[in-house]
Amino acid sequence: MRFEILTLFPEMFGGVFDATIIGRARANGQVEIVLHNIRDYAPGKHRVTDDTPYGGGGGMIMKPEPIFNAVEGILNVQISEKGYYPLLQQGYPPIILLTPQGRLLKQNVARELTQHQRLLLICGRYEGVDERVRQLLVTDEISIGDYVLSGGEIAAMVLVDVLTRLIPGVLGDPAATDKDSHSSGLLEHPHYTRPGEYRGLNVPEILLSGHHAKLDEWRRQQSLARTLARRPDLLNQIELSETDREYLAKLQKNDESEGATS
Ligand code: 6GU
Repeated sequence: MRFEILTLFPEMFGGVFDATIIGRARANGQVEIVLHNIRDYAPGKHRVTDDTPYGGGGGMIMKPEPIFNAVEGILNVQISEKGYYPLLQQGYPPIILLTPQGRLLKQNVARELTQHQRLLLICGRYEGVDERVRQLLVTDEISIGDYVLSGGEIAAMVLVDVLTRLIPGVLGDPAATDKDSHSSGLLEHPHYTRPGEYRGLNVPEILLSGHHAKLDEWRRQQSLARTLARRPDLLNQIELSETDREYLAKLQKNDESEGATS
C-alpha cells in the first residue's frame, strides 16, 4: 500500500513512521509513505496556505489553491470543473480528508480501506478547510473519534498504523490481527507471561493446564465478560453463538443477584 500524506507539518511524522511495525513494513517495501508539504504547492513568494474566513468569526481557514495544486502535482493530472470524482471512477486513488466531521474509523472501515492500493490523506489544520476542497476534491472523510485534535496529522498517523498492520505479511503471525480487540467485535481476553506468581497474584490455573479446548473456552468467556463489563454496546453489533448467549445470560444473572445483596 502507498500513502501520500498532504500536510503543513511533515516533521510531525518522523518518529511514528520510522519505528517498530510501520518502520519495518516500510523497510521491507510492504508500505510506502510519502509526505508532501502543502506549503510547497502554495503560489506566491510567501507561500500562504491559510486566510481569514469570509463572514468573520476568527480562526484561520486552509486555502483551496495549495491543496488542489498538491493533488494535481502528486497525481500528475488536471482536475476539471466536474471535480475529482470522475478520476476516482477511472481508478485514481481515494482522497481522504482527516476531520472530526468524517465517518468514524472502526476496524471494518479500516478493512474496507485496505482494498485500495494507494490513498491520499489530507490533514486539515486551523479551524478548517475551504469547503471547495470538500465539494470538488475529497472522496471520503474520516474522524478517529469524538474529540477535537489540533489537526489531522495525528489522525493520519492512527489511520496509517491501523491499515499497515492489516496488510498481509506485516505482522509475523498472519492470524495475529484476527485475535485483536475489536477484530472479532469483542475485547481481548487477559494475557499473562512469566513469572507464574507476581506480587501475590497467580496466573490462572487454566493457562498452565495445556488443555486446549478448555483454554479456548476460557478465553472466549473472558472476552465476553470484559466486553459486557466495559463495552456492552459492542455485543449488539456482532454475531454470537448460542453458547455465547448462555454465558452472557449467566453473567447478567450473577450481576443482578450481587446487586440485590449489596
Ligand atoms: Cl481526523 N481531525 C481533527 N482535527 N480532530 C479529530 C479528528 C480528526 N478525529 C477526531 N478528532
